[in-house]
Amino acid sequence: MIYKTDILVIGSGIAGLRFAIEASKFAEVFIVTKKNKAESNTNYAQGGIASVLSKDDNFDLHINDTISAGAGLCNHEAVELIVREGPAEIKNLIEIGTDFSKRLNGSLDLAKEGGHSRSRIVHSKDLTGKEIEHALLRKISEINNIHLLENHFAIDLITEHNLLSPYRTLSSKRHCWGAYVYDIKNSVVHTFISKCTLLSTGGLGQAYLHTTNPGIATGDGFSMAFRAGALMANMEFVQFHPTSLYEEKMNNKSRTTAFLISEAVRGFGAKLRLKDGSEFMHKYDDRKELAPRDIVARAIDNELKKSGEEFVYLDLTTKTASEIKSRFPHIYSKCMEKNIDITKDYIPVVPAAHYACGGVVTDLSGQTSIQNLFASGEVSMTGVHGANRLASNSLLEALVFSKYSAIQCEKQIKNSVTKIPEGIPEWVDTSTISTEERVLISQSRREIREILWEYVGIVRSNERLNRALRRCDIIYEEIKNMYNMSKLSEEILELRNLIDVAYLISKSALIRKESRGLHYTLDYLEKDDKNWLKPTYMQNLNI
Ligand code: FAD
Ligand code: SIN
Repeated sequence: MIYKTDILVIGSGIAGLRFAIEASKFAEVFIVTKKNKAESNTNYAQGGIASVLSKDDNFDLHINDTISAGAGLCNHEAVELIVREGPAEIKNLIEIGTDFSKRLNGSLDLAKEGGHSRSRIVHSKDLTGKEIEHALLRKISEINNIHLLENHFAIDLITEHNLLSPYRTLSSKRHCWGAYVYDIKNSVVHTFISKCTLLSTGGLGQAYLHTTNPGIATGDGFSMAFRAGALMANMEFVQFHPTSLYEEKMNNKSRTTAFLISEAVRGFGAKLRLKDGSEFMHKYDDRKELAPRDIVARAIDNELKKSGEEFVYLDLTTKTASEIKSRFPHIYSKCMEKNIDITKDYIPVVPAAHYACGGVVTDLSGQTSIQNLFASGEVSMTGVHGANRLASNSLLEALVFSKYSAIQCEKQIKNSVTKIPEGIPEWVDTSTISTEERVLISQSRREIREILWEYVGIVRSNERLNRALRRCDIIYEEIKNMYNMSKLSEEILELRNLIDVAYLISKSALIRKESRGLHYTLDYLEKDDKNWLKPTYMQNLNI
């Protein structure tokens, strides 16, 4: 089937939904999302949204904290934009019914997290993402010109290289006119033709063996954009959250998601301890447990390597049971399910892949290097996070850039720079065999996740990265053959995306010859401002 619409949104997390609400003011919007509508990284966000809302805080402090965490690579204009727009976005969320936690006097309860010089994290206890996602979905359901299609998996963007001859003219400027989307329930591919397209497909944590990200985070948007020739940057800066729950079955490789123990727990006073009960963060940073994430994750990694242990402890037991249960009800009950009573027991924790700071390059209005293709949320590289994201800045960035992307779309549609050409073909299914060999797909997926975890993790080296790339090359060829022959399925589509993402991260990491922020390599231990105070760009020009 062919759908023609003003705007196509790919993904229904905070970025896609916020954008759709804004865009619906001037256009018809289709949202496609590959699972059920709430399933997203957004839905699992715990800590909250950073914003300047208290009297002892100001924009400059938030801007400086963000830039300081970003280790020299933030785009100051982008940082300033999200910080200044923050309070209005929080107000907007409250107006559509988001129930943020409040103090007894009725003011918002502002929490503290690593790298923040003030308490400024707006939250809904420890289930902030779920509360926001549901408020946005409720709002979307009230808007007639937004159509949300679940179980619709975007395969590839439609650009010049898809056009049929004689319509196919390859100018230097590439354009996007929608996407091919696999309708999972009906096993057919639809052609979505749109004037503007927003890529809001979220993260890529599933490329790593241990991750806080849910199963949807297979890097589809990064891979689609790269295949279409979009400019990408900073893919080496993968953030590892210091504290995911350690479980004995960690080494059971079928486990896909690690449960997060929010940074807000450390903000609430929890201490990190070694197995013998001693504290160690003072050896690494004056801010101890509240140092930025790259520092805390590396400190834990270092202690684990020195001791040979599999986890460190997080200790919240200095707080009263009622304080803990009322502030962190979700973490309390999840840990209780594992027989850990966090009001009395130390919590075993380890770092896990959490967030992609790099992605599809955009300008301040969300425009990518491909005309009429916008990107917002975790898939984008707006310049806000630089080499390391400050805690709770991600939801904020998604809100602000989605709003500005929608404003820019309106201008482009009005100025008719979004004219759709003749010759967009429907999807041609050339596959011959059905994918009975699911075991091969799951085996390749596991291999990719292990390769990134072992060789492209918290501590890297040229040898490890080269090894990762050599392994990726072999798996890439195998997947390409499998993909070309197999009937479409979510599994094969995700696998194709994961191998692209594995390549992008490993290659980008090898290009950057210094240690900065989240990228730490044994071959170049120091920051090199003379040569590397710049993003690491990658672009696929072979199409
Ligand atoms: P997502 O919310 O992940 O949404 C992506 C959407 O795209 C999903 O609907 C998905 O199904 C869909 N999709 C993906 N691929 C396709 C495809 N091929 N076709 C169709 N649909 C597709 N950040 C903060 O600022 N504060 C926090 O407290 C915080 N806590 C976090 C806790 C956890 C456990 C995790 C994992 C992350 C946390 N983050 C937090 C990060 C933050 O949640 C994410 O970066 C943010 O939610 C990303 O929003 P998004 O809209 O870009 O992507
Ligand atoms: C957390 O709650 O620790 C996650 C916050 C974030 O990723 O910004």
